[in-house]
Amino acid sequence: MKDQLTALEAAAARAAAEANGELDLQQVRVRFLGKKGELTAIMKMMGALPAEQRPIVGALANEVKDRLEGLFNDRLESLRAAELQRRLAAERVDVTLPGRRLRQGSKHPVTQVTEEIVTIFASLGFGVAEGPEVEHDFYNFEALNIPRDHPARDMQDTFYVSEDVVLRTHTSPVQVRTMLKQAPPVRVVAPGTVYRRDSDITHSPMFHQIEGFLVDRHVTFGDLKGILTTFINEYFGAGTGVRFRPSFFPFTEPSAEVDIQCVICGGDGCRVCKNSGWLEILGSGMIDPEVFRAVGYDPEVYTGFAFGMGIERIAMLKYGVNDLRLFYENDLRFLRQF
Ligand code: DAH
Repeated sequence: MKDQLTALEAAAARAAAEANGELDLQQVRVRFLGKKGELTAIMKMMGALPAEQRPIVGALANEVKDRLEGLFNDRLESLRAAELQRRLAAERVDVTLPGRRLRQGSKHPVTQVTEEIVTIFASLGFGVAEGPEVEHDFYNFEALNIPRDHPARDMQDTFYVSEDVVLRTHTSPVQVRTMLKQAPPVRVVAPGTVYRRDSDITHSPMFHQIEGFLVDRHVTFGDLKGILTTFINEYFGAGTGVRFRPSFFPFTEPSAEVDIQCVICGGDGCRVCKNSGWLEILGSGMIDPEVFRAVGYDPEVYTGFAFGMGIERIAMLKYGVNDLRLFYENDLRFLRQF
């Protein structure tokens, strides 16, 4: 029986040493020291021993039990320590490594150009107004002296939401909304998104315009020229050539289109200006008395001018971008240049 105990102790020690985890060790402990374990089994057989041997073997069995318990506990600690070391190593953080930089974004070029233009007009005393992109026919056309069946409606290929509701084709309806809300004098620019059924390298079905208008007593075409020339010199640089060309818009009379000296070739003639030396950048004119009547302004008392320009076009000219679609593709290599 002594030999059995010695063998058991050796087997238990080996099993504990081989256990490679807490759970494993727990099973070893149960196998040797558990209620149905091997040591218990040996102790149960002690009853068969002669009476004088029982206390000796009993003491021996208890010693084995104590030693094994100590051994299992030591092994448990070292397993735990090893596991801790393993986790610390796995989760090691090198605080001296340089951090990952967050890339800083920037505003979209269309937003940047819009803000630059608004800032210039703000310095000339203009406030900012906005209107809805889904617009009633009345504001987009009717009140701007473009009645149904007017040929001017063909100038703008319109997206219709319903018979009376459109995606606004220009920012001019903000003129109407503003004047209906506010008595003269008014001096406002209105940037925003507009929509037309048109798509090629210089047209997108969704693009941006900025509208501007000023109404007061005694406003003249000279004021229009002064304000727009000032804007152009601020935005494109002092001394940029400006040209006013007679034109037609239903909501202005007289009307003018405004050209600037080609920013690419300086006026010598190139592909961008189609060898003319000039680039058209906006439409403008004196607000038509019919528009004033539609909003309840007295055309005998007030005069005013208005203008509208495409923001992408201005951005393309300013930055020499030759394909409008680049603004919408969100290619970071393009956007990062601004
Ligand atoms: N609304 C015109 C367009 O979309 C641009 C325009 C022309 C606006 C003349 C004006 C203006 O305010 O006076 O093409």
